[in-house]
Amino acid sequence: MKYNNIDFNNKTILITGGAGFIGSNLAFYFQENYPQANVIVFDKFRNDETFSNGNLKSFGHYKNLLGFKGIIISADINDKDALKNLETSYKFDFIFHQAAISDTTVAEQDVMLSTNVNAYEDLLKIAIKHSANMIYASSAATYGDSDRFEVGYEQPNNAYGFSKVMMDNITYKYLKQDCPISIVGLKYFNVYGQREFFKNSTASMVVQFGHQILKGLTPKLFEGSDKILRDFIYIEDIIQANILACSPSKSGVYNVGTGNARSFEDIVSILQKELNIDNGKNYIPNPFVGQYQFFTQANIKTTQEFLGYNPKYSLEDGIKKYISNIIDLYENEVKGK
Ligand SMILES: NC(=O)c1ccc[n+]([C@@H]2O[C@H](COP(=O)([O-])OP(=O)(O)OC[C@H]3O[C@@H](n4cnc5c(N)ncnc54)[C@H](O)[C@@H]3O)[C@@H](O)[C@H]2O)c1
Repeated sequence: MKYNNIDFNNKTILITGGAGFIGSNLAFYFQENYPQANVIVFDKFRNDETFSNGNLKSFGHYKNLLGFKGIIISADINDKDALKNLETSYKFDFIFHQAAISDTTVAEQDVMLSTNVNAYEDLLKIAIKHSANMIYASSAATYGDSDRFEVGYEQPNNAYGFSKVMMDNITYKYLKQDCPISIVGLKYFNVYGQREFFKNSTASMVVQFGHQILKGLTPKLFEGSDKILRDFIYIEDIIQANILACSPSKSGVYNVGTGNARSFEDIVSILQKELNIDNGKNYIPNPFVGQYQFFTQANIKTTQEFLGYNPKYSLEDGIKKYISNIIDLYENEVKGK
């Protein structure tokens, strides 16, 4: 699927975080649609190190890139020498900056901010030197306690959301200075789809509920789940937004969601229908009351206006497209382990 007239063949494209969920989908998007594109994946990849919350420090996994024909660089975006090497070895046309501590529950503020904020500015400087357009991942987590999901109304309530607001602020600062490249920040809402499985417990509830159902368990939902609503967005619409962001009619920061809030209850019902397995639903008290987002819904007016973005997947359509992969993962990665 081509979303605009840019011919990415023979372009040099950097994807930071390219061994993760969204980055690896971008890498395959280019490989499949523009086979002559020169794609460089820069990612820290996983080892067994964990943060204090017990989750892995980075989720990059080689299995997300099985079949990838481009170049991979295993390095840390906090490593100035590695970035210098990147700057002198290549001449990028586009930089898709997805690398980040993507786990919203990480408590280590120092590493969260150096990785997400400071390394972004370093990469932005490379983009400017190379005249490469920059497209980076911001997040709906920037809205936090806000009830208005519109750029300018951010109210982050954790270090992760704060880090993404600081990335947006860096963007505004550069854009004020007559920046020679386009810079687009994309505030993704709740993304689900192929290649998210290796995010472990931070993967979307779509795949997690799917595997609970396939195991024959009754999916566990928080009480009142029919009233906990989020904007769930399928990976192909995220790819669409990234590609459109390569030639924006205006640089800036944009929401990427469907514009429709749906419930966790809906996810389970759709999965049960698609899998043809119905073990009912189990309701447990919500331990996060008071620190939990009960509603998110992207206002996508400016994304439509300045990027030409038009989400194509309802929750039903996205899960339908994803379901065979959820089953394959269950057979190959979950069953018997
Ligand atoms: N998936 C979502 O729902 C969602 C929502 C909002 C924003 N985002 C943002 O989108 C981007 C991609 O998220 P994702 O869901 O693909 O997460 P992910 O964790 O699968 O991908 C992030 C990648 O960055 C790599 N990385 C982490 N620290 C690094 C470092 N110091 N140096 C180099 N690489 C490093 C990881 O190994 C991983 O492969 C992130 O910036 C994330 O914050 C994601």
